[in-house]
Amino acid sequence: MATIQLEPGVHWVGVKDWGRRLFDGLIPLPQGTSYNAYLVRGTHSCALIDTVNPGFEEALLSNLRAVGVPPTHIVMNHAEPDHAGAIPRLLGEFPDARLLTSVKGKEMAHALYSIPDERVDTVGTGDTLELGGKTLQFSDAPFVHWPETMFTYLREEKILFPCDFLGAHSAVGVYTDELEDWEAAAKRYFGEIMMPFRKAGQRALQTAEELDLRLIAPSHGPVHQDPERVLSLYRRWTEGVTEPKVTVAYVSMWGATERLVLALVHALLEQGVSVRVFPLPQTDLGELAKELVDSRAVVLGGPTVLGGLHPAAAYAALLVRALKPPAERAALLTSYGWGGGAARQAEEILQGTKLELAGVLEVHGAPRAEHYTQAAELAATLTRGW
Ligand SMILES: Cc1cc2nc3c(=O)[nH]c(=O)nc-3n(C[C@H](O)[C@H](O)[C@H](O)COP(=O)(O)O)c2cc1C
Ligand SMILES: [Fe+2]
Ligand SMILES: [Fe+2]
Repeated sequence: MATIQLEPGVHWVGVKDWGRRLFDGLIPLPQGTSYNAYLVRGTHSCALIDTVNPGFEEALLSNLRAVGVPPTHIVMNHAEPDHAGAIPRLLGEFPDARLLTSVKGKEMAHALYSIPDERVDTVGTGDTLELGGKTLQFSDAPFVHWPETMFTYLREEKILFPCDFLGAHSAVGVYTDELEDWEAAAKRYFGEIMMPFRKAGQRALQTAEELDLRLIAPSHGPVHQDPERVLSLYRRWTEGVTEPKVTVAYVSMWGATERLVLALVHALLEQGVSVRVFPLPQTDLGELAKELVDSRAVVLGGPTVLGGLHPAAAYAALLVRALKPPAERAALLTSYGWGGGAARQAEEILQGTKLELAGVLEVHGAPRAEHYTQAAELAATLTRGW
């Protein structure tokens, strides 16, 4: 992979991982991803901003050699291995280089990569690094995505390097307008990675908005030449602005739960409500996360299996709990053969969320006429006041 000069003295030196299909053992990556690293050259110093995933160290080093100026500083905006995994190798390769990171970042560099404290300088909001005609300015931006995260801003060129924040998982393109479906990719990424941190995201957004921005260069996905486009989407997403839309995730072994789900979905469609349905075992969880970004309600369907909620539905419920979507209400549809147990377990999981449980429809065996009526009634309760 060749390097790309974004501006004079500012080079993209990252790698594209076209074939990667799973992230964090959790997030599907239909378009692969990129680990963007940037080299900023001043007249007397040179800073590398973020690095790459383990396994791509040689590609990064070859990109640095292609630019021909060894880094005097390595900025670690985030300690997660997809951006910091190459740091030990780079510190070995460039023995005089200093690692710059937040106070928490220093602890994590030690814990994750055994980086000796004497190689590290800590920076916080307002600190700067002068490279000679290029000035890096740092801001703490905790919890977008981990507690140590920070932003780096290049004053002269007005470029923000926010690491994971404002990114997208896609190996395609250099700039946002090269991705036809960029907004969908960015929303999906937000749902998977940033949605649990919406409050922190709002604070980070404020930090970004206080800067004069020409380019935003995140560490996954394309560079934004129109900063306002991504910032305005993030304003809505971090605030949790929802649409009259219901996301339905369900699993059914023999069709009982499925028939209840379809009755409820039909009633919602009749009301003119937008619905997204995810039959669980074969669902792309990234799409589910994307729809949760602005859904106003969530429906979970799953039968009893071995005294509890079907594990596929339990997984979806746990995911909803972990991702903290802004939805207000939930409904539960379930069927059992003898003792039941699914409803109890689903309620336990959903108790850990802010979702108001609008209703539970539990059927012994296959649904009959009265259950379809109840499903339609539940659709109305779920959306009352919309
Ligand atoms: C593998 C398996 C395990 C089950 N375990 C239980 C159980 O522990 N308790 C119970 O009440 N029903 C149990 N059932 C019965 C189902 O909950 C019941 O058939 C239900 O109607 C299935 O809904 P579905 O058609 O949506 O899959 C089990 C069914 C299967 C296939
Ligand atoms: Fe991360
Ligand atoms: Fe990342």
